[in-house]
Amino acid sequence: MLVYIDGEFVPRSQAKVSVFDHGLLYGDGVFEGIRSYNGVVFRLIEHIDRLYDSAKTIMLDIPITKQEMVNVVLETLRKNKLKDAYIRLVVTRGVGDLGLDPRKCSKPSIIVIAQPMEPLLGKEVKEKGVRLVISSVRRDRVDATTHQAKTLNYLNSILAKVDAINAGVDDAILLDERGFVSEASAANLFIVKSDVIATPPQTAGILPGITRATVIELAKKIGYSVEERDITPHELLTADEVFLTGTAAEIVPVVEVNRRKIGDGKLGPVTRRLIEEFEKIKGDPAYGVKV
Ligand SMILES: Cc1ncc(COP(=O)(O)O)c(C=O)c1O
Repeated sequence: MLVYIDGEFVPRSQAKVSVFDHGLLYGDGVFEGIRSYNGVVFRLIEHIDRLYDSAKTIMLDIPITKQEMVNVVLETLRKNKLKDAYIRLVVTRGVGDLGLDPRKCSKPSIIVIAQPMEPLLGKEVKEKGVRLVISSVRRDRVDATTHQAKTLNYLNSILAKVDAINAGVDDAILLDERGFVSEASAANLFIVKSDVIATPPQTAGILPGITRATVIELAKKIGYSVEERDITPHELLTADEVFLTGTAAEIVPVVEVNRRKIGDGKLGPVTRRLIEEFEKIKGDPAYGVKV
């Protein structure tokens, strides 16, 4: 495996950053998780746009252009001869001193890792679904370390994941500071009630997911109404169907929340239809950039 770091491709064993990098010391940086399907990088332009937006919010100047970044991602896939891959793109604040001041970090580091990857949770999970709990940890506020920006500060999600592990389930849902549903640790959430689909808005502190946007687009195209609105825990527990979306997990049915069965506890018809529609488009060059 060859990893891209700051203009060079190096073997995995030599892919290292400094212990003085503020990405390590303070979680100071931004990242993206991207997938390629059969030689097409799914929604690459949208991922690159989101990366630069995240960087803007934390005032990190990425030292290459968006087009150069696109080329770096494609070149990493070519060098590793990968068609179906998970790509991790990271931009750290760079090497500084032990203080917080980002002005001491003269040059951000750009890292691209690409590895072969099947759907994270496997085909089985798409049928069987996942079990979730509502975490005791609230999603970071939109006026604090908001997850609207995809930064290297993921402790908020990790603490929710720890809650899920301790409860013996697959993942956790975070509520926002008002008590409305936000999202899962690293995936967006949808509910279905009487054939109407709803998902929390950005004001609930979610990452504006690229799979989420694609699912909204597909659902509208096949005739469903989709509402972006606040969702209460009660609505979540009493929905006909609940599902998660994300680059790594794609679309995954949720069959249980806090020990309440969702619907009849099986993959529901709306989720099934959306999984089928997503399967049709995920390797389509119209939805991505060809390697
Ligand atoms: C916190 C969070 N929410 C949602 C998502 C899903 O976003 P996307 O569909 O762009 O992968 C992710 C994915 O990495 C995430 O980390």
